[in-house]
Amino acid sequence: MSEVLLRDLTTLRVGGPARSYVRATTEAELIAAVTAADDAGQPVLLVAGGSNLLVADEGFAGTVIQVATSGVDAVSSGPQIDVAVQAGVVWDDFVLRTVTEGWSGVEALSGIPGAVGSTPIQNVGAYGQEVASTIAEVKVWDRRLRGIRRFAGQECSFGYRHSRFKADPGRFVVLDVVFRLDIDTLGQPIRYAELARTLGVEAGERAPLDAVREAVLELRSGKGMVLDEADHDTWSAGSFFTNPFLDTEQAAALPEAAPRYPQPDGTVKTSAAWLIEHAGFGKGYALSPDAPASLSTKHTLALTNRGGAGAEDLLALARTVRDGVERAFGVRLVNEPVLVGCTL
Ligand code: EPU
Repeated sequence: MSEVLLRDLTTLRVGGPARSYVRATTEAELIAAVTAADDAGQPVLLVAGGSNLLVADEGFAGTVIQVATSGVDAVSSGPQIDVAVQAGVVWDDFVLRTVTEGWSGVEALSGIPGAVGSTPIQNVGAYGQEVASTIAEVKVWDRRLRGIRRFAGQECSFGYRHSRFKADPGRFVVLDVVFRLDIDTLGQPIRYAELARTLGVEAGERAPLDAVREAVLELRSGKGMVLDEADHDTWSAGSFFTNPFLDTEQAAALPEAAPRYPQPDGTVKTSAAWLIEHAGFGKGYALSPDAPASLSTKHTLALTNRGGAGAEDLLALARTVRDGVERAFGVRLVNEPVLVGCTL
């Protein structure tokens, strides 16, 4: 078999060869591939949409398993519907299906790249929704106990871009996710001011599912956050840094104009994009005029590959931005994408 390059499997289009590669199209194949690699003592890298990975130019010295399972299984249960979705289903295909069927609960997560099985790992969220609010159950292969396990939503320890799966890296292979959605042609109450403005509704009001989807896709496109082969601003891993949570003292030390979102636990969330922009790294910032990596020209939080960038090009840019923000505001940004074979 010809060599498989991680750059062909990731949205950043960075990363060298896989030592070996298996494409799993059924749950049984997925479990068998993981078990075979574990038996052989081979490191495993699971790839689905490849939208949250920055892989070293040396590639991966182990087995890359592509999660390509498919299937959406809906079971009605009163005013709500439980929908079991295989891990390899393209996330946005699933969202489109929910909008078409009149299933309410994930419409604001339209246009997010990646596969369904990745969404519980970092509790994917955008525009006021996160998957934690609709996940009823996650079915996983536990590589330590070597068996299938099912975690109810409340057992997944979901937090901002976090879960028990992320806390225990490599242990769990998501097989399928059950979403509990409302049978309703209206979306959930709008919780994101920018989305409410775009829809022409007040925060807390509701709008038809298809209108919400359209508005979110429009907003995401304007920020370069919808994949487009021809547009280098979308050759990214989405937000490269998570939004920081600060204690009250740190939050008070920020400039007056910095966004502040007080949290129930007393911490204050601020905006990584704002900090980056105001530390002097504007949209399109690059280390040199012809550098192959730069900040997106549409959003400072996305690091992009302008064509031919290597992992080090992106990491050098990320380090400069992280260190500059720390010098300016005393806040150390943390990367959101998973780094494979390299460190920031
Ligand atoms: N801003 C700037 N410069 C920019 C862009 C934004 O200063 O270039 C400032 C603005 O003040 C803006 C604020 O940052 O009001 C927040 O920006 P935005 O509304 O775009 O949201 P975000 O906090 O940067 C988060 C998620 C996105 C998600 C959007 C919308 C994280 C790390 N990112 O971004 O998710 O789409 O909210 O809900 O939580 C992702 O996680 O990969 C991702 C794209």
